[in-house]
Amino acid sequence: MQSSHLSALYRFTRKVITACLLLTLLAGCTANAATPADGSYSYKSPSSDGIGKVYYGREIANVMGYQGANWLARPSRATEERSDMAVDALMLEKDDVVADIGAGLGYISFQLARWVKEGKVVAVDVQPEMLALLEAERDKYKVDNIETVLSTEADPNLPTESIDMAVMFDAYHEFEYPAEMMAGIVSALKPGGQVVLAEYRAENPLVLIKKHHKMTQKQVKKELSAAGLTWVKTDDRLPQQHLMFFEKAA
Ligand SMILES: C[S@@+](CC[C@H](N)C(=O)[O-])C[C@H]1O[C@@H](n2cnc3c(N)ncnc32)[C@H](O)[C@@H]1O
Repeated sequence: MQSSHLSALYRFTRKVITACLLLTLLAGCTANAATPADGSYSYKSPSSDGIGKVYYGREIANVMGYQGANWLARPSRATEERSDMAVDALMLEKDDVVADIGAGLGYISFQLARWVKEGKVVAVDVQPEMLALLEAERDKYKVDNIETVLSTEADPNLPTESIDMAVMFDAYHEFEYPAEMMAGIVSALKPGGQVVLAEYRAENPLVLIKKHHKMTQKQVKKELSAAGLTWVKTDDRLPQQHLMFFEKAA
């Protein structure tokens, strides 16, 4: 073969190899931007109610700001959610220590406090303004068994093995660092302690809540089992939410 043909062949081969390398890189990036199956975080352009950060294929929802706190205390909530039934289903002992993570202005914390008269509720939230609203109400009505704790986005700030149960009502889907938060919560649980989540049912299109503020049972199980918890049961009697129970090994 003449040397001019050889060099043309060499140039062509080099172009093909470069194109292949570029395609491989592109495919890798696209896969990474989609949905990692291993639970590490990846990123996409944010949806209208999401933050663009993806965990186990779920886009994390944006945090409900304290400016909208009134919605949490809307009069219709009692019949829409039947949280009285949910709190009853927790089967709390009167001396239990229960953490309400993502407590907001304390709509659930105050109901829990009636059940643990000899124990206490630890109301945890990342927004100091929410906790200030809760504290004002607590002091006004002289409720003496609710403590507040300011968390960070990645740490509930609870002492090791200090709580019997952690509940998250309509909150987990907003955690910006769900893996880190759950590690902190699991470490704060006593052995055999429970984690209970109330999340709006994503399986049901008639539940009129924004897409990323709802979760399927399958997704919740995937994420909480990654935190080392074992699913115990789901109570599906609530009108719009799954009430899901998980346990830390004894
Ligand atoms: C939709 S509100 C629900 C409040 C309350 N659980 C209720 O049912 O009324 C969600 C709450 O979770 C809180 N939150 C979001 N990320 C958090 C985090 N990493 N740690 C603690 N609280 C968080 C928000 O500040 C907000 O108050």
